[in-house]
Amino acid sequence: MERFKDKVALVTGSSQGIGAACALRLASEGADMILNGRKLDERGEKLIAAIEQMGRRAAFVEADISQVMGVNHLITQAIQTYSRLDILVNNAGVEKNHNFWEVTETDFDLVMDTNLKGVFFGTQAFVKHCIANKVAGVVVNMSSVHEEIVFPHFAPYCASKGALKMLTRNLATELAPFNIRVNNVAPGAIATPINKSLLNDEEKLGKLLENIPMKKLGTPEDVAGIVAFLASDDAKYVTGSTYFVDGGLTYHYEEQ
Ligand code: NAI
Repeated sequence: MERFKDKVALVTGSSQGIGAACALRLASEGADMILNGRKLDERGEKLIAAIEQMGRRAAFVEADISQVMGVNHLITQAIQTYSRLDILVNNAGVEKNHNFWEVTETDFDLVMDTNLKGVFFGTQAFVKHCIANKVAGVVVNMSSVHEEIVFPHFAPYCASKGALKMLTRNLATELAPFNIRVNNVAPGAIATPINKSLLNDEEKLGKLLENIPMKKLGTPEDVAGIVAFLASDDAKYVTGSTYFVDGGLTYHYEEQ
């Protein structure tokens, strides 16, 4: 299946985890890829090699998406590299575990600047390109089940993903006349390095699994499949939605 033949896609924060899986999936369906992280390292180099093995092109742009200058630089470079940009996956994100009353301004800014400000201004730069060049652009934001359900001790994270829910609804409406679609993917518990401490804590992991109707964690590839669907023309009538990839976690029912 070559749903992304002749398309160029950018995935932010794609050196590892869900972002890397998204990059591989989009490339496997024909997209040339712009990869991103703050620094190109061995993981990025391996990803480029894997994508080139598929017969696709891949370039890595070093940029810190939590800064407006950084994310603008990323979008400009992404457009210049293969002279087009069709798909933006706003994947990079961070979380911090703190009691609400102990969150510092630095913690708050890091989470909000990465998960919300970077998405806002990266999408803005991409949309300017789409409007100016009459590109039917697609934006997929990596939200979280925590755009919907609570997560005590992660207040800035929940605030950032909750804001992303509303941002997506708003942009979908404002950008529909330009043939630009915007959707969220909301992963539940996915086995990636962001969950290192959870994965290493058997008791916590056991409790979490009890709450997931499917009784298992998701994989980055599970998420990437939904991202590819939303980025493709199979979803050409889908905008302003959130697709949950959570094994049933968000709306589960606990037997009393
Ligand atoms: P991860 O920590 O494995 O990967 C995130 C990547 O983003 C890393 O490569 C990191 O270096 C990069 N990144 C972080 N800040 C950046 C910045 N300022 N500029 C450029 N790159 C930056 O995380 P994972 O699990 O792959 O998460 C990806 C997205 O999925 C995040 O938005 C996260 O909130 C979301 N998510 C993940 C879940 C999970 O269970 N793993 C659940 C729900 C949402």
